[in-house]
Amino acid sequence: NWKMSDFIEQEITRIRKLVGDKAQVIGAVSGGVDSTVAAKLMTEAIGDRFHAVHIDNGLMRLDESKEVKETLKEHLGINLTVIDGTELFLGRLKGVTEPEKKRKIIGETFIDLFEKEAIRIEKEAENTPNAGKVSWFLQGTLYPDVIESLSFKGPSATIKTHHNVGGLPKASISFSHYFPSDGVKRQLVADRSTSRFDTRMMDGQGLRLLEPLRELFKDEVRNLGRRLKIHEDLVNRFPFPGPGIGVRILGECTPERIEIARQADHIFISMIKEAKIYNKISQAYAGLDTSKAVGVMGDTRVYGYIIILRAVTTSDFMSAEPYEFPFSLLKAMARRIVNEVDGVSRVTYDLSSKPPGTIELE
Ligand code: XMP
Repeated sequence: NWKMSDFIEQEITRIRKLVGDKAQVIGAVSGGVDSTVAAKLMTEAIGDRFHAVHIDNGLMRLDESKEVKETLKEHLGINLTVIDGTELFLGRLKGVTEPEKKRKIIGETFIDLFEKEAIRIEKEAENTPNAGKVSWFLQGTLYPDVIESLSFKGPSATIKTHHNVGGLPKASISFSHYFPSDGVKRQLVADRSTSRFDTRMMDGQGLRLLEPLRELFKDEVRNLGRRLKIHEDLVNRFPFPGPGIGVRILGECTPERIEIARQADHIFISMIKEAKIYNKISQAYAGLDTSKAVGVMGDTRVYGYIIILRAVTTSDFMSAEPYEFPFSLLKAMARRIVNEVDGVSRVTYDLSSKPPGTIELE
């Protein structure tokens, strides 16, 4: 007799009690379902004392950050700041080809910007009579993330560079589960980000973690989202990794390559939607191989990038199968991408299952 409406009410009550009537809460939002649902719940509970921060890392999909702003701020009434970090992220990624290094740079840059913003919010709060310190950090952790983190062996065994939806290294979530207290008084102390939060923001007290979705599975979060009046398109959205297009380009992420992958992805996803098969696929994107292949344009030979289309079905994202498109549709997708995206000479479809492949390219 577990009901979603009861859950919302209970959770709001719990959040209000925990946070009290002064403290501020911050949380990163990616535009994905988990962080959006968590942010909406927080807004229902404490209004503008919840501060959502969206960082555009320059590796988002076409118009994504603009849409996040529209949806969260205008439609859902969430107190949101959007930060354009494109220049900083792409600058730091210049010349970097190693996958783990790319992830690390993206995660650290995210933290740098997020921390700056958190400090700014706290400063601003100081001047308003009713506002309190930023003492909570919202994280859209789901039950499967909790389970995953419990299987870690200890500090050295954590997966440092896998980011959660907000983009913070997962280690910062995972470690929190090593504090077996009451489920809320756990401090973020696991990594660079959190230790910096501790010293700078929290006067040594530590930023406390708020995880309203930690007992829910993905389909329950989607239901919760519908109840909170979040648009169906967002509720059903394909997952998008924190490092974004960065893990969908095999090698260095240059602005040119990012733009090509972004345009190709937009065509691919639009055609999936037009074919009314979006809901049959669990996740899809267009990636880019940085080696170039020969193509023909008019009557000249050209060198162009190779686009890798990936679409999978999965129930748990631990294993996955390639989606079986009608061949004619795949060919139509390839044709449009080559014709419409400058710099692409061919298109391939990734037939790998997971394992041995992964869903993302890197
Ligand atoms: P893989 O590529 O490991 O991905 O098969 C499994 C699922 O996790 C997502 N993924 C990420 N999500 N930050 C995220 O927020 C990441 O760093 C990250 N890496 C992979 C991936 O999109 C897929 O849904």
